[in-house]
Amino acid sequence: MAAAGVAISRLAVAVLLMAAAATTPAAGFISTKTWRAVRRANRVGGPFVGLVVPNAYEMDPVLKSPSFKPSADIPILDVQGRRFRFGTIGGQSVVMVMTGLSMLNAGLTTQLLLSLFKVKGIVHWGIAGNANEDLQIGDVTIPEYWAHLSLWNWQRYGDGAENELPLEAAGDYTREFGFLNFSDYTVGKGNPELSANTLNSIWYQPEEIFPISGTPEERQHAFWVPVNKRYYKLAGKLEGLELPACVNATTCLPRAPMVTRVPRGCSANVYTDNASYRQFIRAHFGCTPVEMESAAVALVAHQLGVPFITIRSLSDLAGGGSSLSNEAATFLAIAAKNAVDVMLKFVPLLAAGELADI
Ligand SMILES: *[C@@H]1O[C@H](CO)[C@@H](O)[C@H](O)[C@H]1NC(C)=O
Ligand SMILES: *[C@@H]1O[C@H](CO)[C@@H](O)[C@H](O)[C@H]1NC(C)=O
Ligand SMILES: *[C@@H]1O[C@H](CO)[C@@H](O)[C@H](O)[C@H]1NC(C)=O
Repeated sequence: MAAAGVAISRLAVAVLLMAAAATTPAAGFISTKTWRAVRRANRVGGPFVGLVVPNAYEMDPVLKSPSFKPSADIPILDVQGRRFRFGTIGGQSVVMVMTGLSMLNAGLTTQLLLSLFKVKGIVHWGIAGNANEDLQIGDVTIPEYWAHLSLWNWQRYGDGAENELPLEAAGDYTREFGFLNFSDYTVGKGNPELSANTLNSIWYQPEEIFPISGTPEERQHAFWVPVNKRYYKLAGKLEGLELPACVNATTCLPRAPMVTRVPRGCSANVYTDNASYRQFIRAHFGCTPVEMESAAVALVAHQLGVPFITIRSLSDLAGGGSSLSNEAATFLAIAAKNAVDVMLKFVPLLAAGELADI
């Protein structure tokens, strides 16, 4: 009887464990089996260069490139709706993950990547809108700083630059980074009374951050987040790289695209297709690439103290206006491929020797 009792309770425990194992993944909890695979990946392949890419059309050229060699030892790992792929690029061990568009997706995917894997640095790439009229479709930009431009304090009608924002005194919001006043964009704004706009002004805000080097719950603020200084210097070696100017024998860009480091890139949860707003953020913030992910990746990497850089190729001027605007779709494939090609050339530079020399 006693033996049978033990057997039955063992069975009951086994059934309970199986039920738990079956329910945990659905609840978002990382299962023991997944943790085991993560630990093994880190042991076999780590530390990795973390490759973070927004969309499938920016990742597929990597999967098709002979420069990316998928790992024979580490299988693809799916965790919480994200897929991690392992391999090497120019001798560097890499883990690649696709985020999906927007700041939320980019931030949480980067956090997951850095929480699970030993990552020595992050390389992010993709296409971007262009706010810099001196550059052309297909040019590949590598900014030194990134800011998130869609965290705002929307000021009430009647208040102006001299009025404190709500909760400004508490340190939650600031007037340090400037504003956009909707009435400045009224069509035919000769008459001040008619040109006033009840939307009034939005004030740009820095992010609240909680770096691992700080104290939990003690906020700091970040607006311009720098990319890693050594990575930025290394990227200088790619300026001068030759990129294709033609789609085919007859359809070519006015000049071959170039790789160029630029001072600033800007991200927001906004697809910018308006020339007036493009000109505003160019004049006010100095943005060149304008997109929806890099600042989120930067903010997470910065807080966790992990080196980070972005490589973004330009599509046409955000909101149109260049001589190429009508042909933008024709050259978009070149743009996506250029960002990938530059990324594939950059990652091998992260070998210890190259980094030490810089
Ligand atoms: C924005 O414009 C309105 C007039 O429409 C003006 O009352 C307000 O002071 C301006 N705000 C700022 C921050 O300049
Ligand atoms: C080259 O590409 C353009 C744009 O896609 C197309 O209109 C044109 O027919 C192509 N020419 C040749 C020779 O394939
Ligand atoms: C955006 O900017 C352009 C150019 O200044 C302007 O003509 C247009 O009406 C604006 N608004 C929208 C919704 O495109």
